[in-house]
Amino acid sequence: MTTLRLNANSPADIALAAQLLRAGELVAIPTETVYGLAANALDPAAVAKIFAAKGRPQDNPLIVHVADVSQALPLVKGFPFTAQRLADVFWPGPLTFIVYRAEEVPDIVSAGLSTLALRVPAHPAAQALLRAAKIPLAAPSANRSGSPSPTLASHALYDLNGKIAAVLDAGPCVVGVESTVLDLTRETPCLLRPGGVSVEQLEAVLGQTIEISPAVAHAIENDAPTPSPGMKYRHYAPCGELTLVHGPLQAFIAYAKQEKPDGLLVFDGDMIPYDMPLLRYGDSPEAQAKRLFARLREIDDLGWRRVLVRCPAKEGLGLAVYNRLLRAASYREVRL
Ligand code: TXA
Ligand code: MG
Repeated sequence: MTTLRLNANSPADIALAAQLLRAGELVAIPTETVYGLAANALDPAAVAKIFAAKGRPQDNPLIVHVADVSQALPLVKGFPFTAQRLADVFWPGPLTFIVYRAEEVPDIVSAGLSTLALRVPAHPAAQALLRAAKIPLAAPSANRSGSPSPTLASHALYDLNGKIAAVLDAGPCVVGVESTVLDLTRETPCLLRPGGVSVEQLEAVLGQTIEISPAVAHAIENDAPTPSPGMKYRHYAPCGELTLVHGPLQAFIAYAKQEKPDGLLVFDGDMIPYDMPLLRYGDSPEAQAKRLFARLREIDDLGWRRVLVRCPAKEGLGLAVYNRLLRAASYREVRL
């Protein structure tokens, strides 16, 4: 199949993308977090194509994207009051709720779970597409399973060219890490994946502390039961071996001199000896989130086999950056 390259600024291209989706095809679409690989969420055959194109394990459920709360309601068994309060503040935006699933949503979307992940994306092209298609869109990140999520249309094409009908190009994603996944089926909301909306922001609106799933900062055994199946899989991983290094810059440099890795992934402001190959991924959590996944892909392009990474701060959006790096590093951490 030839993958069409469509332009998100063209109303005709949005209309064509909507038509392809309604016809059961796959289209990689921009969102404010990362590019998603979309299919009609109400068409099990179309959703099955997502798993095939990505090489995604069948037990890893998908997020369903809708234009607004009213389009979400027929898909769920009740929309909890907490969801309504958070939606008022954070939707459209990078926040995903886990709620109970209505019968109309095919099993394959939630990998057989009784729950459903729901999000209203803020990206104007995603909004325009959802309104043109008039169907809910199931969409995981548009990468091959296990690779870093795509923050450019070219990343999605690199992974999926020839396997999907089209890519809708809207340039770089502004957030750069995926949405926050919050389980609202329990008494206390529980963070399953840190993302574009921070724990601090959620707690400020709710006026209560939320639970943080242990999987956010720790490895989960492959056969252990997890509230979010996606958390047990190898993720975001470049081919090279990353090690996440905690500690001050001088100690990091001394450690790098001793270890002699192929390259370093450091902050913008870090003063590093000139003979050490490096990539920079920003100073603020926002800048780091925006650049991280593209840098992980560059590490592969450069062919680096061993990479030392300066560990980001874990506050605000930093928790999402840390969580993705930890997975990319297969939980290899060093404290200096
Ligand atoms: O920002 C994002 O969330 C992007 C854009 C495209 O919206 N999507 C995305 O999807 O990151 P994906 O499939 O790469 O990650 C979805 C995560 C996975 O960890 C999955 O296991 C979890 O959400 N998830 C989906 N449905 C779930 C459910 N019913 N219960 C628990 N976790 C669920
Ligand atoms: Mg993903």
